[in-house]
Amino acid sequence: MVLTSTDELEAGTDSGYDRISELKAFDDSKAGVQGLVENGVTKVPRMFYCEHSNLSDGSTSELNSNFSIPTIDLTGIHNDPILRDGVVGKLRYACEKWGFFQVINHGISSDVLDEMIKGTGRFHQQDAMVRKDYYTRDPTRKVVYVSNYSLYHDPAANWRDTLGCVMAPHPPEAEELPVVCRDVVVEYSQKVKAFASILFELLSEALGLNRFHLEDMGCAEGFLLLCHYYPSCPEPELTMGNSKHTDNDFITILLQDQIGGLQLLHDNQWVDVTPIHGALVVNIGDLLQLLSNDKFVSVQHRVLTNHIGPRISVASLFRTDGDESLVYGPIKELLSEENPPLYRDVSLKEYLTYYYAKGIGTSALSHFKL
Ligand code: OGA
Ligand code: NI
Repeated sequence: MVLTSTDELEAGTDSGYDRISELKAFDDSKAGVQGLVENGVTKVPRMFYCEHSNLSDGSTSELNSNFSIPTIDLTGIHNDPILRDGVVGKLRYACEKWGFFQVINHGISSDVLDEMIKGTGRFHQQDAMVRKDYYTRDPTRKVVYVSNYSLYHDPAANWRDTLGCVMAPHPPEAEELPVVCRDVVVEYSQKVKAFASILFELLSEALGLNRFHLEDMGCAEGFLLLCHYYPSCPEPELTMGNSKHTDNDFITILLQDQIGGLQLLHDNQWVDVTPIHGALVVNIGDLLQLLSNDKFVSVQHRVLTNHIGPRISVASLFRTDGDESLVYGPIKELLSEENPPLYRDVSLKEYLTYYYAKGIGTSALSHFKL
């Protein structure tokens, strides 16, 4: 797992406020934002304050409720070629115009989804002493409990804790997974990986490629499961659950509970991703935008905090297995004289190093433009 270490601390002292000490004390508590809430916090500590510009950031602050991302129903795609073609067309539109869509009838039962949300809740709500054993920024660990991966890099900490598990290509031993969510993490991961394969087939078809093209390139080989927990927040206007960012993978499959708060930037307006029970939210990551030579878009999104909570979500990030020799560039079959490559080849390692170094929020892709 790529995390940021404390030696990358930025100098950040101003007018008597020692940001680094505040970050360190928080990190050393190993209890996350939930630890603050358990201790009865009534004010958001300063390290979580986000710039006002981050909440408005040039886009019209009003939400446009007339907009919503496409919902795609996968019923019948395995045995009805006409239905499948229809789905591929809708998917192409969603990936080109929105970069986000919701999927229903994807083959994973609501019982498994609900249990995954509950398992995440059980982990983050168990005794702080038990959670602490998992708290680490060690990049070699496969099961990591941490609040804010890039805590020491980001201008503002987010009101969020995460249990991250590297589930592919080399999953942890079952015993390494926290007992309160072990069974469901194993079951959900296996099911979401199977769904990702179906999705990569459909996405390949939507790009006009052979059905197995994306999977054959290794797009589903690396799989990082992020079980997010956004505690209720006493002053939601001061901080973010997740600052605006794009995802640094091929695709992300997101399971969210019914609280809401996830928004994406569309036509310069923040649009809510309204929870649909039983659905999975899918978004295109930077690496698929690069492979598709900008045909598919990786769009900025964020999560607002709320007095109501906790909000729970589970993000499945698909990327390569981290093999440093693998480099990615626009897929050759998509290129022509009219559609010349927009990016140079880049390895996952080079991409992630730059993505974290420049600070989350703006696109890392432009750096690799030809
Ligand atoms: C992410 C993300 C959104 C959410 O993990 O990259 O954008 O709703 N998560 O938790
Ligand atoms: Ni994201």
